Amino acid sequence: MFRYLLLAAAGSDRLGRLAASAPLGPKVAGRFVAGDDVDAALPIGRALVDDGLVLTFDHLAAETRSVEQAVAVRDEYRALLGRLKGAGLTPAAEISVKLSALGQRLDEKMAHEHAQAICVAAAEAGTTVTLDAEDHTLTDSTLEILFALRKDHPGTGAVLQAYLRRTESDCRELAAAGSRVRLCKGAYAEPESVAFQSPLDIDKSFVRCLNVLMSGAGYPMVATHDPRLIAIAEDRARWFDRAAEEYEFQLLYGVRVEEQARLAAGGNVVRVYLPYGTDWYGYVLRRLAERPGTAGGLRRALLGR
Ligand code: FDA
Repeated sequence: MFRYLLLAAAGSDRLGRLAASAPLGPKVAGRFVAGDDVDAALPIGRALVDDGLVLTFDHLAAETRSVEQAVAVRDEYRALLGRLKGAGLTPAAEISVKLSALGQRLDEKMAHEHAQAICVAAAEAGTTVTLDAEDHTLTDSTLEILFALRKDHPGTGAVLQAYLRRTESDCRELAAAGSRVRLCKGAYAEPESVAFQSPLDIDKSFVRCLNVLMSGAGYPMVATHDPRLIAIAEDRARWFDRAAEEYEFQLLYGVRVEEQARLAAGGNVVRVYLPYGTDWYGYVLRRLAERPGTAGGLRRALLGR
């Protein structure tokens, strides 16, 4: 129940403004977010790459409600890609993009065009783009745009959420040669009609999806902090005879840092999801929803009670 309250609060602009202005809000956010802007995020990214990790940068943006906002997000990503190239961080760093931030809910065609422009900038910078997965009302549209983008930019990554009942079937469709697919549990509050609800059912779905991706011809990107699922992924990689460069692990910045180092030391490709930006509230609250044990502390830090 508390998880659902936190996920609902994650979508509130008003609470977001309150948290950002609270004295300890930015300090708490700093655990999961690499600063307010690219200048702050680049040195953090550089240090992670020097430690043997690879990256996916995410610009945290408020929900896009106007065409102007969507254009600003597109331009932010293009500028980011130029900075990553200039800093010598490509191809180690790629970027993750939310189509909703590019105006997908306002005008799908516009969001597609902005994503296309970002893919062109990524190619010029020598790297790739992954389209984040959002709530289930956007899944069909996101996959349609993904398939269209892949015609010119086949390296564009997909994200599939194991909690959705449809995902095992989507994995079958996406487990094709050259197809980069991030598999995660899923971070939104979804209804039972479309999503498994119990942790056990979600984990079982994750393993079924993992089997499809690891046995297929694509490039699986295993995005979880769950020790059991990481161990199963390592096992499946051995079982399906995948070399270390034929799949990767992905973990979030600031979460299970020792595990990131352990996996990298074991010869695995480990990509850290590195968000930056001032609109960190929803992102941080989703992380909190995954760790209910820290909820009390964060609530006191953000709201002062
Ligand atoms: P789960 O939440 O069950 O946690 C398993 C264990 O990991 C916990 O018991 C704890 O030990 C540890 N852990 C988890 N969270 C922690 C935290 N905040 N701090 C410390 N320890 C923690 N979702 C989505 O809907 N769309 C997307 O595009 C993405 N993209 C994405 C990229 C990457 C790289 C990752 C890692 C995750 C995502 N997600 C996502 C989020 C994902 O769907 C999911 O919500 C979180 O990863 C949490 O699920 P876990 O698999 O980590 O397991």
